[in-house]
Amino acid sequence: METGLKNRVAIVAASSQGLGRATAEAFAAEGCRLAICARNRETINVVAEKVRREHKVEVLAEPFDVTDAAAVRDFVNAVVQKFGSADICVTNAGGPPAKGFLATTIDEWKRAVDVNFMSAVYFAHQVIPHMQKKKWGRIITITSITTKQPVADLVYSNAVRAAVVGLVKSLANEFGKDGILVNNVGPGFTATDRLKELAHVRSATLGKSEKEIFEGWAADTALKRLGEPRELADTIVWLASERASYITGQTILVDGGLYKGL
Ligand SMILES: NC(=O)c1ccc[n+]([C@@H]2O[C@H](COP(=O)([O-])OP(=O)(O)OC[C@H]3O[C@@H](n4cnc5c(N)ncnc54)[C@H](OP(=O)(O)O)[C@@H]3O)[C@@H](O)[C@H]2O)c1
Repeated sequence: METGLKNRVAIVAASSQGLGRATAEAFAAEGCRLAICARNRETINVVAEKVRREHKVEVLAEPFDVTDAAAVRDFVNAVVQKFGSADICVTNAGGPPAKGFLATTIDEWKRAVDVNFMSAVYFAHQVIPHMQKKKWGRIITITSITTKQPVADLVYSNAVRAAVVGLVKSLANEFGKDGILVNNVGPGFTATDRLKELAHVRSATLGKSEKEIFEGWAADTALKRLGEPRELADTIVWLASERASYITGQTILVDGGLYKGL
């Protein structure tokens, strides 16, 4: 399948491991020039080196926190200075703590809004003017199945990620005329460090082994298994490609049939 992505400039936020990293590697495999970030300098540099070596593409890697609006601005400016444009922007960040409502704190609510909502606003603010100039752009937010179906003990995610969907739909409507497509992808249970962290918390809460927690999650899906990061990454690459040129304002779940609604 010809994706038309060769030489496009792809920003993938929070990409030193897990879903972000798999997405960055998938864009590199399509011949995109890549801009990646995470807070830890060492790990993001390791990913950058590996991608350069394996895919022979140019990579800009910077360590910063996506809740820092000025750092996001400086990063996007550096991307445009180095590559001449910012064609694709995938927003992503670490997930909020797993808790039921009465265990939540006001500070954590504010942090969840900053990390999982405002970070997407910061990136969108910075990249859209560059996309408008080229009359072409793709913004894809990585959120969660919680945008369609709340998950027990993930009340921060259940509440805050809905705002991202509101943002996505609004941006899709406002900037469609400029050739900018904006979509959201919601992973189900996908085998990353974040999932191990959730299994650990759930195991302590329910008094079950982590193995049982993983098996329970797999059993809940139609496909009876967890997802692989690459499966989410491939969906994002397709959404960014010319093959998905009439899709905007949508949430696409990559959840192996975990979502129970129609
Ligand atoms: N895996 C799943 O099953 C699943 C399901 C639904 C939703 N999700 C959501 O999808 C997102 C990615 O999940 P994942 O499983 O890939 O997580 P992960 O394995 O924990 O990876 C998170 C990545 O984000 C970076 N990061 C975290 N906070 C950051 C920040 N404030 N600024 C910049 N970089 C940051 C981390 O690097 P540094 O620590 O160096 O910053 C790391 O590279 C999360 O929001 C998660 O809740 C995951």
